[in-house]
Amino acid sequence: MTDKDAAPTENPAATTGRQTKSSIWGGRFSSGPSELMQEINASIDYDKRLYRQDIAGSKAHATMLASCGIISDDDRAAIHRGLDAIMDEIATGNFTFSAALEDIHMNIESRLAELIGEPARRLHTARSRNDQVATDFRLWVRDMMDSVDAALAELQTVLLQRAEEHADTLMPGFTHLQTAQPVTFGFHLMAYVEMFGRDRGRFADARKRLNESPLGAAALAGTSFPIDRHMTAELLGFDRPTANAMDAVSDRDFAVEFLAAAALCAVHMSRLAEEIVIWCSDRFGFITLSDAFTTGSSIMPQKRNPDAAELVRAKPGRIIGSLNGLLIVLKGLPLAYGKDMQEDKEGVFDAADALTIAIAATAGMTADMQAVPSNMRAALTKGFPTATDLADYLVRDLGMPFREAHHVSGSIVAIAAERGCDLDALSLEDMKAVEPEITADVLAVLSCEAAASMRLSHGGTAPDEVRARITEARQRYALDT
Ligand code: ARG
Repeated sequence: MTDKDAAPTENPAATTGRQTKSSIWGGRFSSGPSELMQEINASIDYDKRLYRQDIAGSKAHATMLASCGIISDDDRAAIHRGLDAIMDEIATGNFTFSAALEDIHMNIESRLAELIGEPARRLHTARSRNDQVATDFRLWVRDMMDSVDAALAELQTVLLQRAEEHADTLMPGFTHLQTAQPVTFGFHLMAYVEMFGRDRGRFADARKRLNESPLGAAALAGTSFPIDRHMTAELLGFDRPTANAMDAVSDRDFAVEFLAAAALCAVHMSRLAEEIVIWCSDRFGFITLSDAFTTGSSIMPQKRNPDAAELVRAKPGRIIGSLNGLLIVLKGLPLAYGKDMQEDKEGVFDAADALTIAIAATAGMTADMQAVPSNMRAALTKGFPTATDLADYLVRDLGMPFREAHHVSGSIVAIAAERGCDLDALSLEDMKAVEPEITADVLAVLSCEAAASMRLSHGGTAPDEVRARITEARQRYALDT
C-alpha cells in the first residue's frame, strides 16, 4: 500500500507502475492494476474489522456446501481448521494484511490457500464477494447493535440509581432556560431514562429487519448449485434468508437504520451533555464533576473544564455526518452491487466507535457527578417558580376560571418583582390587595416543596410519583438493579 505520508517522488513509475495481476480474479487480465488503482480500490485498512464475521460466514458456507454434497466433508474439515487458525492469527496480531489482496475476504481466502491448499479454492463455490460482504456487514452491525443495547441498559441503570438518590432533591425546571416550575433532580434524570429507552427500541426494531441472511444470493442472481440458504441463515443466527438475491446484495438499509438510530441516540446524549455543562458552570453550580471527568487549563490554574461532556455534545456531528454520507452514496445507485458500496463501512465504523465511547462517557459522568442541592434550592428563590401554583390555588379554592387566575397571579408576581422578593415572602395583605378573596390557605401552596409534592399526576414530578415511575421503569426495561 502506498505510504500516504511519504514525500512525493519524481519517478513516474511510482504512480503508473503496475503490480502483479490478481491470483483471485486476474484470469482475463494480462497485467496488474496501477498503484493508484490499488490504492483507491483496497479496503483492507478498515474492513479488516469484519474478520470475525467473515470467518463465521465462511465456516457456515463450508458446512452448508458439504451438507449439500457440493464439497467433501474432508474439504469442509480442512476449511474449518484453516479458518480457526486464521482467526487465531488475526486475533493475536500475527496476520499480515496485504493491500494487493484488496479486502478482508481475499486476504483470508488467500491465507487459507497457503495453510490448507486446494480445499481453500473450493470455498468460493456458489458465493460471491457481493453476498459475502453483505453478510459480514450485517453480522457486524448486528453485533454492534447488541453491544449498544447493553451499554444503553447500563446507562439507564446508572440514571435510575441517581434518580432514586435524588427523588426529593428540588431544583428549578426550565422552559426557554428560564425558571418554570420546581421539579426534582431525580425527575429530570428520569426523562433521559425514557429517551434512551426509545433509542433501545429503535435499535431493536432495526435489528429485526436486519436479521435476514444475504448469503447464497451470490453475485446478484442466486446460483445454480443446490445450496441450502435456510441452513446458512440458521447457522449464522439469522431468522431467514433474504427473499430476493438482487436486493440482498444491493441493500444497505440495515446500515442506514443503524446510523439513524445512532444519530438520534447521540442527539439525546448531547442534550444531557449540554445540561451537565450548564449545571457544572460557575453560574449554576448545580453539580460538580470529579477529576475523573474534567481537565485543567494550561494557562488558568483555577480551571476545571467539563471536556468529556463537551465531546459527547459534539459527537452527533460525525454520526449525523456518517448517516448523511451513506444516504448520499446509496442515492441513485442502480441495482445490484456497485463498488460505491464499499464506501458504506468507514462511516458506520466511525459512528459506532463515537457512539460507544459517548455512551460510556455519559454513564461515567452520570455516576460521577455530585449534586449540590443547596445551590439547586437557592436557584428556586429567583424566577417565581410557584406562580402557576398560585394560579392553581385561585382556580381550586376560589373557583376562578384559569385564564383569570393566570392574570391575578401575574399581578401578584409583579408586586414581588418590584420589591425584589420571592412570592412566599409577600404578606397575605399584599395578595388580598390584588384579590380580596384570597385566604391564608394560599401560604401552603407557595413553597417549592409543596409545589413539587402536589404534582402527583402520572409522570409528574412529585417525589412519590418519581419513585413509583423508577420502580416501574426498572421492570419495563428489565433492569434488575
Ligand atoms: N471490498 C468489497 C466491499 O466492501 C467487497 C465486495 C467486492 N465485490 C466486487 N464485486 N468487487 O464492497
